Amino acid sequence: MTIINILLAILQSNTFSAFFSGQKLIKLNEVDSTNDYLKERLSKSTPVKEGTVIMAVDQKRGRGQRGNSWVSEAGKNLTFSILLKPSFLTPDEQFYLNITISWSIVQALQPILGDRLSIKWPNDIYVDEKKLGGILIENLISGSKWKESIVGIGINVNQNHFEGLPNACSIKQLLQEEYSLTDLLYELCRRIEANYTELKTHGVSRLQTFYVQYLFGLNQVREFSINGIRVQGKIVDITRKGQLMIDFDGHTANFDFKEIVFVF
Ligand code: BTN
Repeated sequence: MTIINILLAILQSNTFSAFFSGQKLIKLNEVDSTNDYLKERLSKSTPVKEGTVIMAVDQKRGRGQRGNSWVSEAGKNLTFSILLKPSFLTPDEQFYLNITISWSIVQALQPILGDRLSIKWPNDIYVDEKKLGGILIENLISGSKWKESIVGIGINVNQNHFEGLPNACSIKQLLQEEYSLTDLLYELCRRIEANYTELKTHGVSRLQTFYVQYLFGLNQVREFSINGIRVQGKIVDITRKGQLMIDFDGHTANFDFKEIVFVF
């Protein structure tokens, strides 16, 4: 080995060993929830390295946002969780991770699905008016320190039917052909790793620009429900804390996650 090769090897190992690429992929045939599996391992003080990925073939009790369940047919879709340790962020910067992960998923799916993709605030992945995937980020914060984040991701890949979910869709339904789960998982982790590194080194600004650019319904007049009342407004931006900014005839108001519902 020449000195150049040795230097290259050291450089590469430094670049890749610090995060995902060097970390473990744990594939479970059956589990209740990959998020809960990671949470349990952390609660037992088992050391889990940043970038560890837990993937389930058959997730029996997947959890979604707003206390909903996430149902996925065994072996057909991607259901996985990644452990992150964003100690470089403060607890009031939690939304930066939503931005980073949502944008990474859109980026990974773009070569397959193109510009029909969007991010329905705060972090649903949509193709046209249908939901292709969802993200459940659970943050473990102790005092003023943000210790760990469990980033759970569900993407509908090869499922043909969604019983009782008229709003759901899969890559197979859109392309009329199966897509490799392994290839997609690899590409998703690659994008998440790159964008997480960017967040760490350069901040959220560029990632946020992409996120807003891809917001579902951006600058379109749509119907929303606020405290059960139907209103029409235009999404114009998000705030620093990730609230949704909606313009109602020239007057802008900001909303937290539980304060507003999209009407389809
Ligand atoms: C949502 O859109 O409501 C979020 C869905 C998140 C589902 C994923 S699947 C892997 C991980 N484990 C879970 O129990 N939930 C997330």
